[in-house]
Amino acid sequence: MDFQWYPGHMTKAKRMMQENMKLIDIMIELVDARIPLSSRNPDIDQLAANKFRLILLNKSDMADEKVTAMWEDYFKSKGFFVAKTNSKAGKGVKATQSIIMDACKEKLERDRKRGIKNRPIRAMIAGIPNVGKSTFINSLVGKACTKTGNKPGVTKGKQWIKLNKNIELLDTPGILWPKFEDQTVGLRLALIGSIRDEILNQDEMALELIEFLTMNYEGILNQRYQVDETMDRVKILEAIALNRNCKLKGDELDYTKAANILLEEFRNGKLGKISLETPEEE
Ligand code: G4P
Repeated sequence: MDFQWYPGHMTKAKRMMQENMKLIDIMIELVDARIPLSSRNPDIDQLAANKFRLILLNKSDMADEKVTAMWEDYFKSKGFFVAKTNSKAGKGVKATQSIIMDACKEKLERDRKRGIKNRPIRAMIAGIPNVGKSTFINSLVGKACTKTGNKPGVTKGKQWIKLNKNIELLDTPGILWPKFEDQTVGLRLALIGSIRDEILNQDEMALELIEFLTMNYEGILNQRYQVDETMDRVKILEAIALNRNCKLKGDELDYTKAANILLEEFRNGKLGKISLETPEEE
């Protein structure tokens, strides 16, 4: 959460990724299932050119299942292997091992033809901060992991975690920077709580969320806060303030408090499984 990107950070992160790229066969990229495009940095396509690719739609427990299915089709149509995961609960995590094998079929075949046996697939996890990389790695590796340590030919200090006899995982994930220069992307990242709140005004964010929800998830706000969704968005925020008794001194309504409640409840999944972007916008 405490990530702040400066040009120097980006250059360093990119350099580290580039160095590690030489060591791996497959790039496993985590994105947030609620905003799969806004939570990825397209630079990865260039960085991981010529690598096998797997995209994991993580936090799928919080996303709209129908929309997630559309994203699976979308990424498949772009030539990626794709799977959905809930790293927090460990759902879909172990299954990624067989998907990794599947994605690297060509390499295994190539090795076999050259008479190379038992050369493990080497994988790396990457993604923007807060997307769930550490949670995923912990869930995948569990306790029964063996670190393979430094081996000749491997850059000093690199640690590989042996997942099974076929797959080794670089223990430090690659960190990508988000595309925060795009305002819509910034808003979506802030809405899911992935970047600092202070960057954007809470009231404005809540109004944007209200507009999105009334247009795309009719009935959700009414159900939770008993508000008339046909009103304009400022009136709806006012109605939420009334519903939750958000008052300042002198009985004036506290819009910011209401905005915070709405944003918190959205982020905690209390409003339901909601996706903020669909492939159709592409
Ligand atoms: P990072 O390494 O990519 O920076 O992310 P990290 O694993 O630290 O995860 C960031 C937050 O996202 C954590 O929550 C983590 O529990 C949560 N998370 C990761 N994967 C999933 C998932 O599939 N589903 C859900 N619902 N949450 C996920 P936190 O608020 O920092 O901590 P906590 O809530 O676990 O205490």
